[in-house]
Amino acid sequence: MPLSNAQTRDIQSLLHPYTNLVKLRETGPVIFERGKDYIEGMAGLWCTALGWGEEALIEVAAEQMRKLSYGHIFAGRSHEPAIALAEKLKDIAPFPVGKVFFANSGSEANDSQIKLFWYANNARGLTKAKKFISRTKAYHGVTMAAASLTGLAGNHRSFDLPLDFVRFADCPHYYRNAMPGESEAEFVARLAKNLTDLIEKEGADTIAAMIAEPVMGAGGVIIPPKGYFDAIVKVLGRHGIPLVDDEVITGFGRTGNWFGAATYGFEPATMTIAKALSSAYLPISAVLISPEISEAIEEESGRIGTFGHGFTYSAHPVAAAVALKTIEIYQERDIVGHVRHVAPRFLARLAKLGEHPLVGETQGVGLLGGIEIVADKATKTSFDPSKTAALTIARFIEEEGLITRPLLGDRIALCPPLVITEAEIDELFDRFEKGLAKGLDWAKKEGAKLG
Ligand SMILES: Cc1ncc(COP(=O)(O)O)c(C=O)c1O
Repeated sequence: MPLSNAQTRDIQSLLHPYTNLVKLRETGPVIFERGKDYIEGMAGLWCTALGWGEEALIEVAAEQMRKLSYGHIFAGRSHEPAIALAEKLKDIAPFPVGKVFFANSGSEANDSQIKLFWYANNARGLTKAKKFISRTKAYHGVTMAAASLTGLAGNHRSFDLPLDFVRFADCPHYYRNAMPGESEAEFVARLAKNLTDLIEKEGADTIAAMIAEPVMGAGGVIIPPKGYFDAIVKVLGRHGIPLVDDEVITGFGRTGNWFGAATYGFEPATMTIAKALSSAYLPISAVLISPEISEAIEEESGRIGTFGHGFTYSAHPVAAAVALKTIEIYQERDIVGHVRHVAPRFLARLAKLGEHPLVGETQGVGLLGGIEIVADKATKTSFDPSKTAALTIARFIEEEGLITRPLLGDRIALCPPLVITEAEIDELFDRFEKGLAKGLDWAKKEGAKLG
């Protein structure tokens, strides 16, 4: 099909993230005008928890723009939306929080995490503690330091990354990474042992923190096996290493609790939040910092004369007002309760997809799901990467009016807005199944071994 005018204008001027830009010249982009016509099975990029067209958020933004469209919080200035949002976040955080630092994206917040730890550690005389432990397949963003924490080759190759302050621990994906015959408990024990070995090899005093997503998102929606966080937290505790909790996807009800930390029963030292913080109506992110680390940062700023970190748009008043209203809506409408109510339906339909000959594994928690496409279920053999199986099937699913997200490892993610109803969940999976049926015809032509 010839490209439309808008598609031609697009490829002449836009540099698209996560795109094969050569292929795009032929296919052109899919251009969306408004949040309609499709079921958005990904809430955009795992972010618009309240869906589109939430008038209360639109009104708050307009009101705040009229009142104070911009104000910064540098050098002792402040404004009410920043203060009120920080207070609210301290209130709902699942661990004691001293101070809140605001940024504009998950990447900036994770970059800030690293700097905050370095700064606080220098203040506390922990001058060797610079390294961060991350995990293979982790996703923590794309700025220089955050991309270094990301454990995906596509974010490193040809970018001269990762920087050398990062060490990678194992990805906790039982289906793919367990040894033959290894039970889930044995798998967890092995990963904990490997983490201990890594820390001891590097020297615990050289490590600033370990960063982890409660559920790995962009790495494939990888749900940790039972007991994983207990085991990891014990290892970190034994070595005095703090845990940085990246809740950019899992925060604000996604897993059936306010935060993934509650779902998996751990208490971090700091936390990164973004995305659903404002239901993506405006860009805003935050780092929640334990009292101990907050105090160390404050003391160091006194010694040096300044805390030399912050963005022009840190705690932008319009974004902060929208985020505050978003959290109030979550509370007023009991969004977490709603997720708990509809999640069993979502998870049951997700599990049913596992019976399909092309589906090797499904994993889910709350309203987050991952589906792995395989060429041979019995042997867990993947399609040849040149077949781009997950991408191909996601396109068939999109033809049925459902937006999903194909990820590496031929996994397809589902992360619908948290306000989805049971009837909409059924519609979502009906469309998924129709797309999958088309995928089966395609796979047969490709000679897949369908057991
Ligand atoms: C867990 C996690 N951390 C960090 C980020 C980076 O956020 P941003 O794209 O806003 O920089 C993402 C984005 O998807 C994410 O999923």
